[in-house]
Amino acid sequence: MLNKKTIDDINVSGLRVLCRCDFNVPLDNGVITDDTRIVSSLPTIKKLIADGGKVILCSHLGKPKGSVVPELSLAPVAKRLSELLGTEVKFADDDNVVGENAKRIVSELKDGEVCLLQNVRFRPEETKNDDTFSKELASLCDVFVNDAFGTAHRAHCSTAGVCQFVKHSAIGYLMEQELNYLGSVVNNPKRPLVSILGGAKVSSKISVISNLLEKVDKLIIGGGMMFTFIKAMGGNVGKSIVEEEYIDYSKDMIYKAGALGVQLFFPVDVVVTKEFSNDAEYRVVKATEIADDEMGMDIGPKTRELFANALEGAGTVIWNGPMGVFEFCNFAKGTIAVAEAMGNLKDAVTVVGGGDSAAAVNQLGYADKFSHISTGGGASLEFLEGKELPGVKAVEYKD
Ligand code: 3PG
Repeated sequence: MLNKKTIDDINVSGLRVLCRCDFNVPLDNGVITDDTRIVSSLPTIKKLIADGGKVILCSHLGKPKGSVVPELSLAPVAKRLSELLGTEVKFADDDNVVGENAKRIVSELKDGEVCLLQNVRFRPEETKNDDTFSKELASLCDVFVNDAFGTAHRAHCSTAGVCQFVKHSAIGYLMEQELNYLGSVVNNPKRPLVSILGGAKVSSKISVISNLLEKVDKLIIGGGMMFTFIKAMGGNVGKSIVEEEYIDYSKDMIYKAGALGVQLFFPVDVVVTKEFSNDAEYRVVKATEIADDEMGMDIGPKTRELFANALEGAGTVIWNGPMGVFEFCNFAKGTIAVAEAMGNLKDAVTVVGGGDSAAAVNQLGYADKFSHISTGGGASLEFLEGKELPGVKAVEYKD
């Protein structure tokens, strides 16, 4: 049971409300290619507007690493938000986020008006959770609302630090909904519980793999991270991406799965190319026999079948991360196959998190065949493995 204050527990009428959202959306030449995260934030924003708050939105976008990267400006998000809300969202484009312009815009906000600050990661303090920037953010508002579930696993100024310097804090509807749904999955999963992990790096999912092994009945590994495991098992991976420093860790995980009786599934075949390009010629080879001048781009047809069979009879399936280089259509078949196999499961609770995997589900028109599409990638995994998310921890408890 969630014991954090929500926006239903506070009266924001006439107050300045700083609302942290996750507007980290994919952009192509300044054009938003998937606005799911923006749309998912609307219920909270609309509620704050309806209640007469002066709404100050903030978010990160990409990884500008503490400097000003014009391509990662939140200007396109302000525009899209204005369209979706049907009201102007004033954009405070100060490079230092809480600059003179931002302060003026905030001070001129009337009840029910909305503004958006510039990318909080333009400030080097943000990801260090440095008090200076947390205090600056707090100085803009009377109440802080965290609705950025996708970034709740980060202890940053705008997700956690700011809470220490505001009188009141609460979570928004998106955060509440994600925590309630994922909480029910993690506390009482219908078994067998199967997890499918993909994506490029073992290192970014390092603790997740170890912790998930203690919870799941089956673990399926695909995507770029499969090559580190295949190499750990003695296979030839050619030029595929491998994190050499995680080979031993991968061996430990295989050992741990055996000791815990967790069934592990790895690809048996892969689609390979000589170049990292959608137009490169491709062929299918055994997953352990990739030639020295080739690299793996996707799981192969036999693996698609293997994984689909492994999902049969599952009670709960949690999927995070694409099976191949999903952004190249020639290498998206593995990811699509997993989305299809999960979407066709009868009676299973199916949860997907992470940008690419969620995008695959949406593009296929399978959204309504899934139990839950999380707006969080890393955040949903960390929550499901049982960690307390810093962005939630920092928020005030209910009275
Ligand atoms: C995400 O896209 O998973 C969140 O927005 C968090 O982004 P980050 O991995 O750059 O912290």
